[in-house]
Amino acid sequence: MAIQWFPGHMAKARRQVTEKLKLIDVVIELVDARVPQSSRNPMVDEITEGKPRLIVLNKADMADPVVTDAWLRALKRDDIEVVAVDAKHSKGLKQLMSGAEKLMQEKHDRMREKGRNPGPIRALIIGIPNVGKSTLINRLAGRNIAVTGDRPGVTKRQQWIKMKGGEMELLDTPGILWPKFEDQMVGYRLAATGAIKDDILNLDDIALYTARELSARYPEQLKERFKIDQLPEDAVELLELIGKKRGLVSGGYVDFEKASELLLNELRHEKIGRVSLETPADHDMA
Ligand code: G4P
Repeated sequence: MAIQWFPGHMAKARRQVTEKLKLIDVVIELVDARVPQSSRNPMVDEITEGKPRLIVLNKADMADPVVTDAWLRALKRDDIEVVAVDAKHSKGLKQLMSGAEKLMQEKHDRMREKGRNPGPIRALIIGIPNVGKSTLINRLAGRNIAVTGDRPGVTKRQQWIKMKGGEMELLDTPGILWPKFEDQMVGYRLAATGAIKDDILNLDDIALYTARELSARYPEQLKERFKIDQLPEDAVELLELIGKKRGLVSGGYVDFEKASELLLNELRHEKIGRVSLETPADHDMA
């Protein structure tokens, strides 16, 4: 997604979310289950302060289920529910609904005691580009909606989208927030999973980062995929070996760029299996 985040855009994105908060009951914060911390906006706690929040670990179908369970526990707070979802294949949407209902339960019970009907839960989806906001809105709505983000200079009337079953209504324009790009490791994790374009960071560096991470976290999956008996300790040697195994050699040399592309493609298309590139323990959150 080609959004250039200048300070002016960040301020505007923040203002747009703040304005919408007045209209809604629950914030649905979407993150990538493979990199839940790196795919969050660094200021999200501050931006959404005071609103009950549902953190949705999306693309859970591609993430390591054991690590996802650890994230579900690590991110839970009194006013924060956490669920894992695969929006693409409509999995986990019931848990998402129950999570939102749980957040609103006390308030709704009080309203019912006073004889008032709480009505549907009104929610806003927020998240950095590419975490699956449009996909989730479409799946929750049960139909394809042309989801557009707020863009500078474009004003659009807000519309509520009724969810299947009617228990929830979503604002049709999700809040698009910026990632924490000043942290280089965040950049590598987002690039490895395909959330940011390869040309923002150097391709070889992303591939070397990926080779190192996969060797450390998922050595058996890596060995099996590339038919390697013993993984070389050095990431450059590992990439060369992967290149050789796949015949990416010309004039006696491994084509490093092609080997890099191959490794990243295989990771992003789940050929190396389900993989998570950060755990709560990496962030002292376990
Ligand atoms: P955004 O609005 O937050 O920017 O994200 P969007 O919904 O456009 O989703 C970005 C990409 O992530 C899309 O892939 C989408 O299909 C994929 N995606 C979204 N949710 C999930 C999920 O739960 N699991 C998996 N595996 N993928 C998911 P794309 O390659 O850009 O498009 P397409 O080839 O799927 O059409």
